[in-house]
Amino acid sequence: MTEQNGKRTREIKLVPLAFITTESQLKIREIRNEDNVRKWMFMDHIIKLNEHLGWINKIKTDKSQIVFVIMNEDQCPLGVANVSAIDTINKKADWAYYLTQNARGGLGSVIEYSFINFIFASLGLQKLNCEVIEGNKAVVKLHKKFLFQDEGFRKSNILKEGKYVGVHLLGLTKKDWDNGKDQIFEKYNKLFNKFSITIEWNKDNPDKKKHPLDEIEAARARNNLNWMNILRLVLELSPEHGKALVTDIRNIDKEISALTDKLISL
Ligand SMILES: CC(C)(COP(=O)(O)OP(=O)(O)OC[C@H]1O[C@@H](n2cnc3c(N)ncnc32)[C@H](O)[C@@H]1OP(=O)(O)O)[C@@H](O)C(=O)NCCC(=O)NCCS
Repeated sequence: MTEQNGKRTREIKLVPLAFITTESQLKIREIRNEDNVRKWMFMDHIIKLNEHLGWINKIKTDKSQIVFVIMNEDQCPLGVANVSAIDTINKKADWAYYLTQNARGGLGSVIEYSFINFIFASLGLQKLNCEVIEGNKAVVKLHKKFLFQDEGFRKSNILKEGKYVGVHLLGLTKKDWDNGKDQIFEKYNKLFNKFSITIEWNKDNPDKKKHPLDEIEAARARNNLNWMNILRLVLELSPEHGKALVTDIRNIDKEISALTDKLISL
């Protein structure tokens, strides 16, 4: 928190998920699993640790989405804001965000304004879409305050707690944003002054701060594909040799499994 002209400003940072500590990455799972977040997400089951780690790994290599963690002054995660389905040909993307319950109350609006601004100014997109689950009236209203327009309602589109519910489709063009953003800024000036939002993003090299471990992981994933392709070729061109190799692999896997049991029982 900083003090300007006697007024306190909350310093909020949006940091790419890959750049925060593992501890903070794990904290995000707790937020994802909060009732008031899950309720409005497309996938609303309790997320287990392995699933959460798989999600993080996918994000690190997936160029079609960027996930930012919303951090407070103490480097504690408050929520997530993400751009997904980034389509560089049609210059469009989807976005969504959520905050832990006790961080709500004004911050959402400030993040929404800053994030839309960032997306249009820094990612070269012309159209931003979002989907809001039927019943989440407050968020439909919230998006409309930031110039999103109704683009339809897909009824009975997803299954939630055994019931089919619809999805509101909302969209915003860069042109409409550029025309209206100053007026919005004026309107919410008082609220915006309470927060200072920084979005950490290196347009020319988004991977700059990647940890070597992440790079090894990504390279291994690519090589795994090569190994599978070799196996595919061998099984196709010389099935007999291929099967012998796969049998050997299975036997060694069994050995590893027995050794793992030993390790666990230590
Ligand atoms: C969406 C979200 C990030 C907004 O954060 P926030 O800090 O609550 O936002 P604000 O306080 O700036 O609220 C903006 C407006 O929405 C209203 N609002 C937001 N969430 C609300 C809720 N659950 N119930 C009632 N009103 C709500 C606020 O009262 C405010 O209305 P006003 O401007 O008329 O006073 C937060 O509510 C959230 O995480 N929701 C769950 C996840 C979700 O629905 N995400 C959207 C998917 S795109």
